[in-house]
Amino acid sequence: MNDTCRLYTDLAWLWPLWGDASAEYAHYCRHVTSLIRQYAKLPVKSLLDIGCGGGKNVLNLKKEFNVTGLDLSPTMLAQAKELNPDCTFAQGDMRTFRLGWGFDAVLMDDAISYMNSRVDFAAAFRTAYAHLKPGGVLIATPDVTIETFRQNRTTTTPAARDNLEVVFIENVYDPDPTDDQYETTVLFLIRDHGRLRIETDHWSMGIFSLDTWRQVLCETGFEVHESRYDSGDEAYTVFACVKVE
Ligand SMILES: C[S@@+](CC[C@H](N)C(=O)[O-])C[C@H]1O[C@@H](n2cnc3c(N)ncnc32)[C@H](O)[C@@H]1O
Repeated sequence: MNDTCRLYTDLAWLWPLWGDASAEYAHYCRHVTSLIRQYAKLPVKSLLDIGCGGGKNVLNLKKEFNVTGLDLSPTMLAQAKELNPDCTFAQGDMRTFRLGWGFDAVLMDDAISYMNSRVDFAAAFRTAYAHLKPGGVLIATPDVTIETFRQNRTTTTPAARDNLEVVFIENVYDPDPTDDQYETTVLFLIRDHGRLRIETDHWSMGIFSLDTWRQVLCETGFEVHESRYDSGDEAYTVFACVKVE
């Protein structure tokens, strides 16, 4: 099945309903901020959020840093700008873009999951490295790794606003555990004033072992540290990677 990527194009208007920017994202961003403060070898003022999506992490991180957001999708960037009119945004592909200047810190959160080959995965980290000043820190969080993946896991997230009720039903499935990809399929049950409309979306995403993460980050040139982040529902490995001088 081909990727449809509708959540970041024609269905992007649903993104603000999926996850509470000021609760679950705030908790994660406090962890990110404390790691940056712990490992940076320079005073951290500027941060680049690669794959910033609708800007929920930006909303929280801008309390601590001057944040620039980068994303592939112009529709998501428009949302991020609306939520964060005081921040700077740029459109680009994390595998190839070069802004031409460095930041004190870089965040690569869930968007790294869209790197579904080892070549693209390594290219995205080279991009992060190229955008850090010496002594700066990359924070990278795998959404899933081979160690944490649960075959055929389905999660259901209800959300509502005004006369709109939406249920996000997300299923992950790995048809071939010997390669670097798995599938995410989403069903959207959208009820506008009670009237049901059903939409679907599908992606092929990347999955790597923690050892592959460590190896690729080291090969990129980073000094790699690991921490655990507990969201309440799940625990994640978070990498703090220093660009050594
Ligand atoms: C789940 S959203 C990120 C949400 C974000 N963490 C937030 O705080 O709102 C994933 C984003 O990754 C972006 N993305 C996917 N592939 C990309 C690429 N090659 N380069 C840059 N962004 C990409 C998508 O456009 C999408 O906006």
